[in-house]
Amino acid sequence: MPETVTLKLKEKNFEIPVISGTENEKALDIRKLRQESSYLTYDPGYGNTGACTSAVTYLDGEIGILRHRGIPIEQLAEKSSFLETSYLLIYGDLPTKSQLEKFKKTIAKQADLNKDFKNLFASYPKFASPMAVLVAMVSSLAAYYPDLAKSNPSKEDVDELAIQLLSKMPTICAYIYKTTLKNESFVEPRKDLDYVSNFLHLMFSSKKKEYPLNQEVVEALETLLILHADHEQNCSTSTVRMVGSSWADLFASISGGICALSGPLHGGANQEVMEMLEAIHADGGNIKKYVSKAKDPKSDFRLMGFGHRVYKNYDPRAKIIKRRVDDVLKKLGVQDPLLEIAWALEKVALEDSYFIERKLYPNVDFYSGIIYKAIGIPTNMFPVMFAMGRLPGWIAHWKEMKENPETKIGRPRQIYVGKNQRDYIPLDQRT
Ligand code: CMC
Repeated sequence: MPETVTLKLKEKNFEIPVISGTENEKALDIRKLRQESSYLTYDPGYGNTGACTSAVTYLDGEIGILRHRGIPIEQLAEKSSFLETSYLLIYGDLPTKSQLEKFKKTIAKQADLNKDFKNLFASYPKFASPMAVLVAMVSSLAAYYPDLAKSNPSKEDVDELAIQLLSKMPTICAYIYKTTLKNESFVEPRKDLDYVSNFLHLMFSSKKKEYPLNQEVVEALETLLILHADHEQNCSTSTVRMVGSSWADLFASISGGICALSGPLHGGANQEVMEMLEAIHADGGNIKKYVSKAKDPKSDFRLMGFGHRVYKNYDPRAKIIKRRVDDVLKKLGVQDPLLEIAWALEKVALEDSYFIERKLYPNVDFYSGIIYKAIGIPTNMFPVMFAMGRLPGWIAHWKEMKENPETKIGRPRQIYVGKNQRDYIPLDQRT
């Protein structure tokens, strides 16, 4: 017998089917509730709402578990590469050796940008927000690849879209850095390099001097990208799905996702964390002052890099970064006083009843910026790095949404709390 729950509304019983996920998560299937009872459910922020079924990522925030296609994030961070994890997310399984080689080669081959598209970068003002330019450039890809900017692409088109986006994203991100922050000419992608090394080359090589690649830097960045690759139905991924549900093309959907990611409560938090640590440092390391400010109900200041909608335990991604950060800095010969501040801040916060009661732990953004900074990536590029990492997750979810016959256009309802009907008053009669 399928499990149901009886809901009594105005003396009438409604049988609500219960559905279960593969990890035994239970949900009330209310798809027919409004039609049968006229009642809506009310869940601002969607904290209790499953908007879709998904086989991409499993997350248990109470314990601190994160798995992509069943594989724990800890194993991926240690053993996989960013492109292999991207393949896993998008296609559902780890690639064979030959599949992975082909995937990598095809991506490397497509990393160049169209000449006219490249000229667009020059039209942005210096010191433009890198995320604002990224939104525009990804959305502009639709104009340069009209054959792929389709509302209903074939399976082959989706494969091509994934390749085009993954291959061009590092070039776009690096050229944004060169245009808005460095005012330096672009260097061409190098097809002989792996994905992360090519990105570092695009960022830091100049016409005159080739960037000396350092294995520690490559590995650290590879790990950070893997850790950001997907995180189930977060704000940006839900946006990608929402935009795509209207049959908007993948470029438009991802561009929408980047907009959502740019907010300081989401992907913009890594930048905010760095700015907060710098402010504490400039303030003589006065950690207690910032912790008090974060606890003050009259202040809207939050301890950036702390708290998560789903994790009520240590974010497993933050655990991995925290373990790596000290080692990476030592290997790079970098001494950053902000790391000491971050450690001390975490200690104070985790011993404070405000943070304990609310189950606020460091999240992925708390330590990531210290590594980006050690690599030489400027603070306002941190959210762009998050976007580059999250790209395969967005593609995987968009693809899954398109393949699911149950997908409908995303269209939440509302509880109207405005004025009741009233008459229009002509302008000359208004007081
Ligand atoms: N500092 C101080 N207080 C906090 C914080 C924080 N970072 N986060 C939550 N709280 C408090 C909040 O004020 C509220 O207190 P009260 O119950 O007294 O009103 C309580 O904890 C619950 O917070 P909430 O805002 O209802 O929680 P949420 O699930 O809606 O928000 C969050 C989650 C991540 C937006 C929030 O924790 C936050 O703003 N954190 C700082 C920004 C940040 O680091 N964002 C990155 C998230 S991880 C990367 C990603 O995937 O986006």
